Amino acid sequence: MLIRTDIDPNRRNVRPPFGEDLAEALARKVVGQPAAVTSIVPYLTMHKAGLAPEGRPVGVFLLLGPTGTGKTRTVEALAELIHGSAKNMIKVDCGEFQMEHEVAKLVGAPPGYLGHRETQPMLTQQKINGVASERSDLSLILFDEIEKAAPSMTRMLLGILDKAQLRLGDNNTVNFERTMIFLTSNLGAQAMQKQMGTPFGFEAVVHETEEQRCTAKRLEQIGLAAVRRRFSPEFVNRIDKVVTYKPLTNDDLAKILDHLLVEFQRLIDNRLGVRGFVLSLTPRGRKWLLKKGASQEYGARELKRTIHRHVIQPLAASVAKGTVRPGTIVRMDPREDKLVILPQAA
Ligand SMILES: Nc1ncnc2c1ncn2[C@@H]1O[C@H](COP(=O)(O)OP(=O)(O)OP(=O)(O)O)[C@@H](O)[C@H]1O
Ligand SMILES: [Mg+2]
Repeated sequence: MLIRTDIDPNRRNVRPPFGEDLAEALARKVVGQPAAVTSIVPYLTMHKAGLAPEGRPVGVFLLLGPTGTGKTRTVEALAELIHGSAKNMIKVDCGEFQMEHEVAKLVGAPPGYLGHRETQPMLTQQKINGVASERSDLSLILFDEIEKAAPSMTRMLLGILDKAQLRLGDNNTVNFERTMIFLTSNLGAQAMQKQMGTPFGFEAVVHETEEQRCTAKRLEQIGLAAVRRRFSPEFVNRIDKVVTYKPLTNDDLAKILDHLLVEFQRLIDNRLGVRGFVLSLTPRGRKWLLKKGASQEYGARELKRTIHRHVIQPLAASVAKGTVRPGTIVRMDPREDKLVILPQAA
């Protein structure tokens, strides 16, 4: 398989897609999670049309589900599509705000308090506007692992979700009306894992079956029940959509493998320039990687690790040794428990 990198999704100064185009583009980037696409896109369209309600964020989404299934990737993909770069978003790791006093890192300490001058709040208007772009005025904010947040942070979030406002330590008010808020959580993940049964391997599932569809519904119920146990009804009521990510099928993983290889080829092109080469996996090599990287437990994270260990690291070693000739096609094929670079024609 040869990899094309001439289609650059990060082109700047292009009008961002919306409506069906956006849905299609998002579905291409976030594989096998149609619920995420259909839940989020209508809110973007409402904002684009100028008809999003005032006095609240454009949309508030709670993303639930097993690890490595595309929750964080969804927000990155949206940032790529509407702003041209995955970096155009604010990510708040709620795990860093487990203690009451740590919330000051987000909003800044009040005047007169210790650290007032030193603490640069994370959520200022300037920072929020800074992740919008000339292509779109919408800022994407991700609060990761909200179940870890201290109660004062949950209260703070409630204000943002409800009135689109946040009062900073210095009394300035930040407006969140032009933001889309994503909350992710592993709540219910353990119970979901149990529901999915013992992890099964590559041979077990090739296509989505009826059984898997039922599993997805069940996972949604498990996730929601866990969220209701942890958060107050007022908090849950302010969420526009709860999206449960389903375990990835092997067809999904095959598509993700192609994405990851295109991404890696782009890195080779950008970093090595004229010293670059074209990576090509033999069909057997691709199959081998998929089998080795299939995991119900870790989703695409395991696939990423497998590519790292069996493609990127050995290739990097060959490049460092100078055994890869620039401008050539480098073919990789499995031999026993690893991938090897096939000898190149002279
Ligand atoms: N549905 C998907 N479509 C495309 N790529 C995916 C998908 N799921 C996972 N990936 C790939 O795997 C990586 C890890 O996924 P991601 O960060 O979205 O996991 P997550 O669902 O947020 O998990 P966690 O709960 O551990 O944070 C992504 O960077 C991406 O490369
Ligand atoms: Mg994540």
